[in-house]
Amino acid sequence: MSETTESTATERYLERNRRFIPGGLFSMNRRTDPMIVFERAQGAYMWDVEGRRYLDYHAAFAPYFLGHADPDVDGAVISALQRQASLFGAGTTPWEGELAELLVQSVPTLDVVQVTNTGSEATAYAIRLARAVTGRDGILLMQGGYNGWEDDVAFNLMDPADTLKPRDDGPGLSLRPITNGIPEAIRRNVYVVQFNDLDAVETVLKTGRIAALMLEPVLQNIGVVKPLPGYLEGLRRLCDTYGTLLVFDEVKTGFRNGLGGYQAICGIRPDLSTFGKAVANGYPLGVIGGRAEYMRYFDHPDAKEKVLIAGTYNGHPVPVFAAIATLKKLRDRHDEIYGHVDDLGRMMEEGLRAIFAKADYPFTIVRQSSAFVVYFMDHAPVDWLDLIRSNDMERDKRYRAALIERGIFHFPTPSKQGSISFAHSRDDVATTLDVTERLLGGVL
Ligand SMILES: Cc1ncc(COP(=O)(O)O)c(C=O)c1O
Repeated sequence: MSETTESTATERYLERNRRFIPGGLFSMNRRTDPMIVFERAQGAYMWDVEGRRYLDYHAAFAPYFLGHADPDVDGAVISALQRQASLFGAGTTPWEGELAELLVQSVPTLDVVQVTNTGSEATAYAIRLARAVTGRDGILLMQGGYNGWEDDVAFNLMDPADTLKPRDDGPGLSLRPITNGIPEAIRRNVYVVQFNDLDAVETVLKTGRIAALMLEPVLQNIGVVKPLPGYLEGLRRLCDTYGTLLVFDEVKTGFRNGLGGYQAICGIRPDLSTFGKAVANGYPLGVIGGRAEYMRYFDHPDAKEKVLIAGTYNGHPVPVFAAIATLKKLRDRHDEIYGHVDDLGRMMEEGLRAIFAKADYPFTIVRQSSAFVVYFMDHAPVDWLDLIRSNDMERDKRYRAALIERGIFHFPTPSKQGSISFAHSRDDVATTLDVTERLLGGVL
């Protein structure tokens, strides 16, 4: 940590936090080295308690697609409070239907939707629904994918290469839980394969045990790892063959890659989809939606078939008004917003490529619209194993640390995705490129 950030205010806050919170912060995946105490954000910028400004490419793990404190979104939230749109906990509200209609209009494969508070709740419901629909318990996930913190999906994220071995009690990879406390019964029902490997998927689906294949259609929790041509089509075919529900977890790709999600870009129809993050531009909201024939289990006429969806805070007016305002803005200013972030993404990609071309080590820039990453390897990774074997993690760490020291915030864990927002400008990207260029020959 540099001397400036290690000043009294930062230390004071960190010390108090450590006294009252195990680990000193809420949500452990936010722990960074150095630990920064943030207190304000506006547009493309964040400020810490020392008054230091950071140009933000983290976007709080991607929700801030319109930028921090977007005036239309925050204005809608303020209007909700002013009109006393409370949480009633009984019946429904005019804004539940309004949000549901906007979601269905935005994403072509959603016949109907339900709304939760977080992405993890949405993926948990997708799994419960798939199990009810198919009468099976098994779940198939991708190594390097992240689908939430709940027991069924908290496996195999960024594991060391030498731990990625075939599992000994069935097909797929050996399980690497990302948390302690997962019951053995859950482990027996979870399978993991490498992304982009259709044969591995087929071997698992052939067991006839798999209710849902859940995946991010682009792995955006390990940078930007894209599906190879034909891969998603292959998954659709295999799921149809073996009676498994195909679930696209678009919590990170949705609304950021396009209003219709990545599924509208790749043209594959999943059975169910989950969304979160950018849908409410930073306010807590998750979505599960898809084919009416499956979603109807949430209201099945036969009580024994019914799948419970319930939550004291589901449909809370604050995130719901935020989501309505976000979706209307993305719809009404569609070409301007997606055009702008794509232009900036291209400028970033081309600029970084030109800069690193002068270096004497391998690099690859991968981008999907506003999401981008610099890998220090000579090709775009096809899966986590490829990435962990080839990416120069130490250089990647130095790159991120040096940018943070210079006021440009990328999450300081190697291979994490950068996120451009509508609030970023060409000047912001130019500054980023300028700062990056000056790292070459020094820390890089
Ligand atoms: C693809 C994906 N799915 C699900 C989640 C879980 O969402 P939440 O953190 O809102 O529970 C995340 C969070 O990073 C995610 O990236």
